[in-house]
Amino acid sequence: MKAIEIRNKYLNFFKNHGHSVIPSAPVIPENDPSVLFTTAGMQPLVPYLLGQKHPAGTRLTDFQKCVRTNDIDEVGDNRHLTYFEMLGNWSLGDYFKEESIAMSYEFLTKELEIPQEKLSVTCFAGDEDCSRDEVAYAAWRKAGIPDERIYFFGKDDNWWIAGEEGPCGPDTEMFYDTGKEKCSEECNPSCGCGKYVEIWNNVFMEFYKDKNGYSKLSQQNVDTGLGLERMAMLLQGKETPFEIELFAPVMEKLVELQSKDLIQSRRIVAEHLRSSMMIINDGGRPSNVDRGYILRRLLRRMTRHLNKLEINLDELATIIDISIDSLKELYPELDANRNTIKEVIIEEKNKFMKTLQNGEREFEKVANRTKNAGKTVLDTQAVFNLYETYGFPPEMTEELAQEQGLKVDMSDYQRLFEEHQAKSRLGSEQKFKGGLASSGEMETKYHTATHLLNAALKVVLGDHVHQKGSNITAERMRFDFSHGAKMTDEEKQKAEDLVNEYIAKDIPVEKMEMKKEEAISLGAEAMFLDKYGDIVTVYKIGDFSIELCGGPHVERTGELGHFKIKKEEASSSGVRRIKAILE
Ligand code: ALA
Repeated sequence: MKAIEIRNKYLNFFKNHGHSVIPSAPVIPENDPSVLFTTAGMQPLVPYLLGQKHPAGTRLTDFQKCVRTNDIDEVGDNRHLTYFEMLGNWSLGDYFKEESIAMSYEFLTKELEIPQEKLSVTCFAGDEDCSRDEVAYAAWRKAGIPDERIYFFGKDDNWWIAGEEGPCGPDTEMFYDTGKEKCSEECNPSCGCGKYVEIWNNVFMEFYKDKNGYSKLSQQNVDTGLGLERMAMLLQGKETPFEIELFAPVMEKLVELQSKDLIQSRRIVAEHLRSSMMIINDGGRPSNVDRGYILRRLLRRMTRHLNKLEINLDELATIIDISIDSLKELYPELDANRNTIKEVIIEEKNKFMKTLQNGEREFEKVANRTKNAGKTVLDTQAVFNLYETYGFPPEMTEELAQEQGLKVDMSDYQRLFEEHQAKSRLGSEQKFKGGLASSGEMETKYHTATHLLNAALKVVLGDHVHQKGSNITAERMRFDFSHGAKMTDEEKQKAEDLVNEYIAKDIPVEKMEMKKEEAISLGAEAMFLDKYGDIVTVYKIGDFSIELCGGPHVERTGELGHFKIKKEEASSSGVRRIKAILE
């Protein structure tokens, strides 16, 4: 069964069981700066899991485009993917465990026609926070799963939460038995030997976890996730997702083009290409920060592995076309954006290609020097040079080193990187003093960063935040604002992330002249309203920030670099002060 058929069957099945089909959210979260990518179907639905009414009702189903890059280094083996599609169905305070399990069982055995004997399930074993899940157990028994194929595990296996804080709960997971031999007497679904493959996770979300522990939500929800590629792989009797129709044509083309036969490199190319295309399609662009940096890493790693396969990099356009053609039935938007996707990928490849070979030669020298000296850890200065001169993300140098049985010291690299940042700041400061940069480049950047911070603080702390003062030098900014309490570490982090998110978006900073009343009606921030005449200058940054201001400002937020809050402290009663830098 092809992936598209599985997806259609899934959505239809849940539609016939009273669910509204909702569209996938983009892989780049729309209103959530706290995460880089959408990592699960539940993520865009968090407000509704917490009790807000969803306009489409209390039973929802969708497919969600997901990116998870924490396992990026594992890609190349037979199962890890940085992009995958998750099919999901939700109850928002509607049905709970029994109905959820009955529907899952019916879908697997009737719609996908998986023989019941192939299924094993796991349930939550119980602990001091939540009791053993007897309801899930009884529902599986009622469906017909015998006792010997129902397992109980603790929080490590049968509890689901996205990150550290949020809605969560015990889950029940379904496993497909591939028919392989048990790896030992004790072999069971939680064992990673490959006999059992997890196919579906139903989370019974009725708790909320924060730093104080667990509390009950106002409603009992169900959040489920079924990995599309994995299900297609099993139903097609394949050993890896790279053999299903979404990857096979690209994999075959790579075999045709390669001079060296390296299966892991082919998988990395096919996988990273697909992930990058999905990110670019939803607006991501390569850069040196946050999401843009992850995209850059994916694309540079893909380019290096194309090189390892000894494939002419001019073939990339053809490879992209084949990949889009295999995916366009699932994602017609890739076909519609084909040209943009190609341009972004090829531009990044070109940027990197110029230095790739020289960088690899340099790496070889360093690796030989290390080995000849009888050492196993690479001179870190070398890792930094490879980044600075050849654009090798340190993770890539680490991978190259691993291939030769060597290691790198990432903490040492980090220290050098920070020292370098500090020096370049000092450099630009001295330039100002010498009058070389008479436009006051850094000051201009800090002016714009001040507007972004002001807007970010309103989002994080509330609309009561207003600017109470500001002081800018070439090396830092200081910003005073109305707020009655010390900011928590999390609030500071959120504000910082939000500013960096808008920097990464590289939004134009628009300068406009308008009547003061008009500016006020647009919600423009103004510190001293009376000081302005009837016609005012307003600076607008997308839909994020609008302020009355005399400027000057940068043309695009991308010019700011990376924003960092260094300190948050009291300024006067009800007024807080933030010191921050751009690096
Ligand atoms: N949210 C659950 C998961 O991602 C379904 O596995």
